[in-house]
Amino acid sequence: MNIIKVKTNEELSAKASVIIASQVLKNKKSVLGFATGSTPELTYKNLIKMYQDGILDFSSITSFNLDEYCGLEKTNDQSYYYFMMEKLFNHINIKPENINIPDGTSKDVNAECASYESKIKQAGGIDLQILGIGLNGHIGFNEPGKELIYETHQEILTESTLKANARFFKSMDEVPKTAISMGIGTIMSARSILLLGSPGKEDIINATISGVITPEVPASLLRLHSNVTVIYVCS
Ligand code: GLP
Repeated sequence: MNIIKVKTNEELSAKASVIIASQVLKNKKSVLGFATGSTPELTYKNLIKMYQDGILDFSSITSFNLDEYCGLEKTNDQSYYYFMMEKLFNHINIKPENINIPDGTSKDVNAECASYESKIKQAGGIDLQILGIGLNGHIGFNEPGKELIYETHQEILTESTLKANARFFKSMDEVPKTAISMGIGTIMSARSILLLGSPGKEDIINATISGVITPEVPASLLRLHSNVTVIYVCS
């Protein structure tokens, strides 16, 4: 793993956006895997600025998002679709038809998961997957446990995740209990991975990069991948 320790979220975002920008510059038809959450927000702002400054062109890239809550409409401001449009896609020249986010309102969730997985394969796989990390070590919504699921699937969210995400909702009852997430195999199939640890994630990042490799810390599996960069804020 290429490990970069930084002091601030600004430094994390500056470095992360340069890595994403170099992927887009290297291959204008890149397939990018995007994450939501507060961690990549400033990184996305930096990418918007690079687009506005004429440095980056997203017109030929394809995107796949990691996950989406089940049951939230696209118009719900807590859906990951809404987040991505607001925080990035509405401000760059990515083609709407090249944006892929799992449909959390699908009546047939299993069919939606299978079709998402095959769309990724049809696109030739993901060149660079951006990841945040949950306080419990989840990546996407692959929650800690005895087993991890390989492909895109519906995940039942743990108590710890429900609590962590409750801050975005009016009450705990409104937090969706399940989500569609790329599987651990989908993530590990990306050709390169960028894992970001914002302030407060130092302990779980340390467990990820130097503890045992275990499904109890899903992010620790990333140590089995040959091209991972971790940028995290250290006190
Ligand atoms: C959510 C998302 C993850 C994200 C994590 C951390 O549960 N499913 O993809 O990495 O939370 O979020 P934040 O960056 O807000 O700490």
